[in-house]
Amino acid sequence: MPKSILVSNVLPHEALALIPRDIDVDYHDSDVALTRSELIRRLRGRDGLICHIISTVDDEVLAAVPTLKVVSNVAVGFNNIDVAAARRRSVVVTNTPDVLTETTADFAWALLMAAARRVVEADAFARGGHWQRWQWDLLWGQDVYGKTLGILGFGRIGRAVARRARGFNMRVLYHDTVRCDEATEREVRAAYTDPETVLRESDFVSLHTVLTPETRHLINERTLRLMKKTAILVNAARGPIVDEAALVRALSEGWIAGAGLDVFEDEPKIHPGLPPLPNVVLAPHIASASVDTRLAMATLAVRNCLAVLDGAPAITPVS
Ligand code: DGY
Repeated sequence: MPKSILVSNVLPHEALALIPRDIDVDYHDSDVALTRSELIRRLRGRDGLICHIISTVDDEVLAAVPTLKVVSNVAVGFNNIDVAAARRRSVVVTNTPDVLTETTADFAWALLMAAARRVVEADAFARGGHWQRWQWDLLWGQDVYGKTLGILGFGRIGRAVARRARGFNMRVLYHDTVRCDEATEREVRAAYTDPETVLRESDFVSLHTVLTPETRHLINERTLRLMKKTAILVNAARGPIVDEAALVRALSEGWIAGAGLDVFEDEPKIHPGLPPLPNVVLAPHIASASVDTRLAMATLAVRNCLAVLDGAPAITPVS
């Protein structure tokens, strides 16, 4: 029997070209997610799935496709996949870590800088023909240099964000469920502390935790009220880590100064309270969206799928 895979969303042709010709490929060349029933119908009898985060691969899908050996996610996050159910069914789940670390960290910084220095408001002001004269009190923002950066979630991306803070001479505080080793702390010049201290003492709080039941609404009314009134929150991790309704209140009532968000609780919907607010920068989940990185993610996802179908270990399995 020839091997057979479903690619459930658009991938660059360079990545697709890695798939040997003797593998039967069903390719859904689209950014639109297949419905659950379509996904199951097109997966039936196949060995592998290469998917984006918009495909939900839960136990029902896995149960309907007993032939499946591998689910290869084109993302580092994998909250769209029921990993425990996959393990029970001996289906390997893979993701694309490392290749997107620096690009995602760059974008967290882009959000931080844009929110701190009000770049989006400034752009709208200049474009909108409102600029009549030099103004002393125009669009004052928050300084970044020499301030305190707090990072919640200190995996690869959190550490890459911390590394960039050295150039801004910042003090870096972090919290994660596991403290990292001293050599890493020294290298990135970050100090471990409890989450409340991170929130209380930081001028910028950047979120880099995975989404789990424990981190859902980690940022809520209580934790937002711990932050400085001048603080800026950045989220380039997963939307549901933040209680968006509480964030809307925090931004409109001045509990914090601003936010930069790349991810949302119910994507692609954005809480209706957010777009009217001038002190939030909104982006449509593009933190890893650079030309090189998206190609690297797609290539790694294809290689992961092929490795498992060849009976080899996956390159980057979800552990
Ligand atoms: C990821 O890799 O998890 C991103 O959020 C999707 O590109």
